[in-house]
Amino acid sequence: MKHLVKTLAVLALMLGSVMASAQVVHVSTDNISIVLDARQGQPLRYIHAGKRISDRDVANLGTFGAMRSEVYPVFGHGNTGNYALAVRHQDGNMTLQMTVAGVSKEESNDAVVTRITLKDGFYPFKVDVCYRAYKDVDMIETWTEISHSEKKGVDLLRFDSAHLPFHVGDVWVSHLYGTWGDEGRLVQEPLNRGTLTIENRDGVRNSHTAHAEVMISLDGKPQENTGAVLGAALCYSGNYELDFITNDSDYHSLFAGINPKTSSLRLANGEVFKTPELAITYSDQGLSGASRNFHSWARAHKIAHGNVPRRVLLNSWEGVYFDINEAGMAQMMSDIADMGGELFVMDDGWFGEKYPRKDDTSSLGDWKVDRNKLPHGIQGLVDAARERGIKFGIWIEPEMANTVSELYEKHPDWIINASNRDIAKGRGGSQVILDLSNPKVQDYVFSIVDDLMTNYPDIAYIKWDANMTISSYGSQYLPADRQSELYIRYHQGFAAVCDRIRAKYPDLTIQACASGGGRASYGIMPWFDEFWVSDNTDALQRIYMQWGTSYFFPSITMASHISASPNHQTQRVVPVKFRADVAMSGRLGMEIQPRDMSESDIQQCKIAIADYKMVRDVVQFGDIYRLISPYDGKGLASMMYSTQDKSEAVLYMWKTEHFQDQRLPKVKLAGLDPDRLYTITELNKAVNGRPYMLEGKSFSGDFLMNVGIDMPQGGTNAYHSRVLRLKAE
Ligand code: DGJ
Repeated sequence: MKHLVKTLAVLALMLGSVMASAQVVHVSTDNISIVLDARQGQPLRYIHAGKRISDRDVANLGTFGAMRSEVYPVFGHGNTGNYALAVRHQDGNMTLQMTVAGVSKEESNDAVVTRITLKDGFYPFKVDVCYRAYKDVDMIETWTEISHSEKKGVDLLRFDSAHLPFHVGDVWVSHLYGTWGDEGRLVQEPLNRGTLTIENRDGVRNSHTAHAEVMISLDGKPQENTGAVLGAALCYSGNYELDFITNDSDYHSLFAGINPKTSSLRLANGEVFKTPELAITYSDQGLSGASRNFHSWARAHKIAHGNVPRRVLLNSWEGVYFDINEAGMAQMMSDIADMGGELFVMDDGWFGEKYPRKDDTSSLGDWKVDRNKLPHGIQGLVDAARERGIKFGIWIEPEMANTVSELYEKHPDWIINASNRDIAKGRGGSQVILDLSNPKVQDYVFSIVDDLMTNYPDIAYIKWDANMTISSYGSQYLPADRQSELYIRYHQGFAAVCDRIRAKYPDLTIQACASGGGRASYGIMPWFDEFWVSDNTDALQRIYMQWGTSYFFPSITMASHISASPNHQTQRVVPVKFRADVAMSGRLGMEIQPRDMSESDIQQCKIAIADYKMVRDVVQFGDIYRLISPYDGKGLASMMYSTQDKSEAVLYMWKTEHFQDQRLPKVKLAGLDPDRLYTITELNKAVNGRPYMLEGKSFSGDFLMNVGIDMPQGGTNAYHSRVLRLKAE
């Protein structure tokens, strides 16, 4: 036995040394290759990044085929161009000179992690460039681990996660932009000379405006189902910066990482700074192909409970806003249970003893139930939900306080604010942010969830909100010479709290909400099940927002609710069928006072919920194919999900414009088996309308994909929509 252990140890050493002398490193998945020139003592350079290439081609390329682009360019010496890493040593020297010192690989059940160690020629400074290549999905995550053993701290001034080059040509970038109430808007633009910067500087949330995910169409104008596409998502919850730099070389360069603006960091001797992962994918099946890669990776590895079906819920916010009371909650629970829902979520307004939460001007931080509103407390609500056969969920905003709160009276030093400045107050004129760089604050934020879950273990769902931007920059916890670290330390604190919550409550469903869609980000999804796409629930505008969001996020993450008409944000009057048909393309829920709905609207929602449950697995776990974009102005938007085995699909067609004598395009499906026959059944049939004209008929996948079907114009109905189920015979 002793002998065997010794032999294994020798083998491991030998393997280590083989890896250490490797010159060409090939990191790959089924369809992606990243090939690196990793000659010992030389800078680490790209040979290839993108489509999967064969080992034979890799061998023939050798180091000769190197793109010459450095993988992780550093500032200051021998590099006059762009850089991913810049530091200041304590002797004032601002340069690095990094070369390959070793390569190692570690294999687990689901991935291979390759680690290439770079060392500085003079200073004891080290960077590990890491790649995690998944075995079951087409995604490679890359990040760096930066450390040193210099006597004094080293200041990190820029610290990107990765640099990704790709050849110049007719290259387009698709990314998302928006604002509150209009999140996830798709932007598509050609890459020209110069720099395109996509960044966030909010401090707390990071996806209201720009998003940290991009797609790069390599061979001309972006197409949904054809063409070569690189995709990249920076998995970080805080400020980020993605720079596309095009200068006089043959390559565009994407530099992606934590936003270094006003965020330098002192790294102590022995401390390791791990940069966030940049997830990279490639597809030759267009943007939808890249989306399918993102979605499969997300469900398998990057979101909480990615393989667990999501419940149909009613959230109380747009139904009653702050007007919480026991009878009202019970009524809403009864109504959603009657409609076939499975969960009720009590939103804002339930807490505050000394300062009851009547509106948004007070009480954040005081997570004690308001007994005047809820005499039987949370237990009463949990019991009421159980009696109705549904689950109970609750809203909190744990990173925040109001200056009008018991918490603030006790711990004014816990808030983020610049010293010598007035307190910057946000929502309600009194909201402030708790300083998560402070371990005591981390304990407190953890305790909010922990107390709720310890006292009421039947709580099944938490809506975690965050409604403020850092607008007075300063930590009362960090020392004077570390103030520049607040943005980053806040998010390290946030991650530490989330880790603790997930370690103790692995089964809890948690929604990330941040004034709507401020936290649609892979930086937070490993701890969260879903996000609130937007505070704007207008069905027509949601088509555009959810279309964009679907580029990167699977439907199970997109909370999508049927709300009232006229809509509370846009005042648009939209029939309930259309509202439901749009909501049914994401994680279906309701955001409405059921008591105010007409009998026929309730009937329609019952149908929508029952039908959604019937195809829930297809919608929540299926492959997405976007067919006709609302952004193309054709008057119709259409997309579908189909199962991996192509036995079932759900197709959505929504009219986006309404004109006399309007002609709508034919809808050609995708993702079906051309040789199988599919029977069409309409879902969420209109209570008082005519069924789809091809109801009950069967067509081949070939016909459906290459000839296509018609969307009825809808007569006088401006908001006409159809949802069809296609089931293979
Ligand atoms: C902002 C969120 O986006 C809304 O959904 C709602 O939860 C409110 N906060 C509650 O104050």
